[in-house]
Amino acid sequence: MDYKVKDIKLSREGKMQLEWAEKEMGALLEVKKHFQKEKPFKGERVGMALHVTKETGVLVRTLIAGGAKVAITGCNPLSTQDDVAAALAEEGVHVYAKKGETKEEYYEYLNKVLDFNPTATIDDGLDLVTELHTKRTDLLKDIKVGTEETTTGVIRARAMAKEGALKYAVIAVNDNKTKHLFDNYYGTGQSTIDGILRATNILFAGKTFVVVGYGSCGKGVALRAKGMGGNVIVVEVNPIAALQAKMDGFIVMPLEHALPLGDVFITVTGNKHAIPKTAFRSMKDGAILANSGHFDVEIDVKGLEQMSYSKRRLRWQLDEYTLRRGKKKIYLCAEGRLVNLGAAEGHPSTVMSLSFCGQALALEYGLKRKLEPGIYTLPEHIDERIARLQLKAMGVKIGALTKEQERYLNSWKEGT
Ligand SMILES: NC(=O)c1ccc[n+]([C@@H]2O[C@H](COP(=O)([O-])OP(=O)(O)OC[C@H]3O[C@@H](n4cnc5c(N)ncnc54)[C@H](O)[C@@H]3O)[C@@H](O)[C@H]2O)c1
Repeated sequence: MDYKVKDIKLSREGKMQLEWAEKEMGALLEVKKHFQKEKPFKGERVGMALHVTKETGVLVRTLIAGGAKVAITGCNPLSTQDDVAAALAEEGVHVYAKKGETKEEYYEYLNKVLDFNPTATIDDGLDLVTELHTKRTDLLKDIKVGTEETTTGVIRARAMAKEGALKYAVIAVNDNKTKHLFDNYYGTGQSTIDGILRATNILFAGKTFVVVGYGSCGKGVALRAKGMGGNVIVVEVNPIAALQAKMDGFIVMPLEHALPLGDVFITVTGNKHAIPKTAFRSMKDGAILANSGHFDVEIDVKGLEQMSYSKRRLRWQLDEYTLRRGKKKIYLCAEGRLVNLGAAEGHPSTVMSLSFCGQALALEYGLKRKLEPGIYTLPEHIDERIARLQLKAMGVKIGALTKEQERYLNSWKEGT
């Protein structure tokens, strides 16, 4: 069996983690049951680049139940849960992932997944698709469809399509309402706080948090930081998002004004250098930085290193930088990579069940059709099916429109 994991002996713990995740992923298990009967992926080879977590493990098992063969690598060098990787490898999945892998290993493992000659891809951030379109173009002819998990990956895929560079259909799972309104908001909200707590164990109450970016993720992070007693400042560049933040009760200001006020800075923009090199000198001595956006470009970590006189690992997933001028100390969580996956376990299983129902059903949808190259979103009825599955899993019943109400909503004739 071909795999690269940290230690195959961790598989026992990994299996227990998967068991715990499954308990919270009832909606995805319903989809798995349907796949077990229908076998929609018979004969398909699925190449995946997703955070190798216990929840992703449950998705992998779901695809296999549907008849797929799966090869998987991580989509971030720090996010792999080594016990889960070992458990999947033992179950016969081609897994190439280790927590703390080097950049070279990261690309080696992406290519291992491509060596599997996939007929479909599941990506998170678009590095697998990019590698395929730049270095492994010979494999493109066999790919029928791809799915993309996150905002940053969808932005990259749309840019590729705009340039005419995208050679197959990619379904933007992040665009599902049951994805970005839940995973990005509740998931990132809770797990980002979890990551900062595990890295620092600071008291949130009374601290000033600066949340940079008030999109789906930023809204969740700001709300949770406030809920734990933090004073929250929001930094935005989009006037609508900034106005929402203001009306949600947050203080809104440009980054320059927030720099001397913040105790903790959290980036969730999907953008490069949201905290640029020029920012560090204006921060308080002891400021803590964390990123929860997809790539480690949001905080200019290289700039921070250049300005620093020394750096040391102070705690697990917490580095202390001492700036040359003034000997001010700045603390960085999880090397500036996604703090919720680097320093914690990523999103809770319940919310990933929703996202991964989206992945599983998007793959089934895409493989059933011959889609032209381009970016697709799932039809509303599939999104609603996912929401219903989740409601059922949570034991929640809802009402339905009467025939008269349906008629009323579909007509224009009845007014005052
Ligand atoms: N940590 C996780 O597990 C996780 C989960 C989902 C998404 N993500 C990632 O988080 C990032 C944000 O995702 P989202 O869905 O919230 O995106 P979004 O597009 O909804 O929101 C991003 C916001 O950041 C703002 N922004 C952009 N550049 C800025 C700058 N320089 N300064 C201030 N604000 C700026 C934008 O105006 C926008 O309102 C993406 O990289 C996404 O892939 C991470």
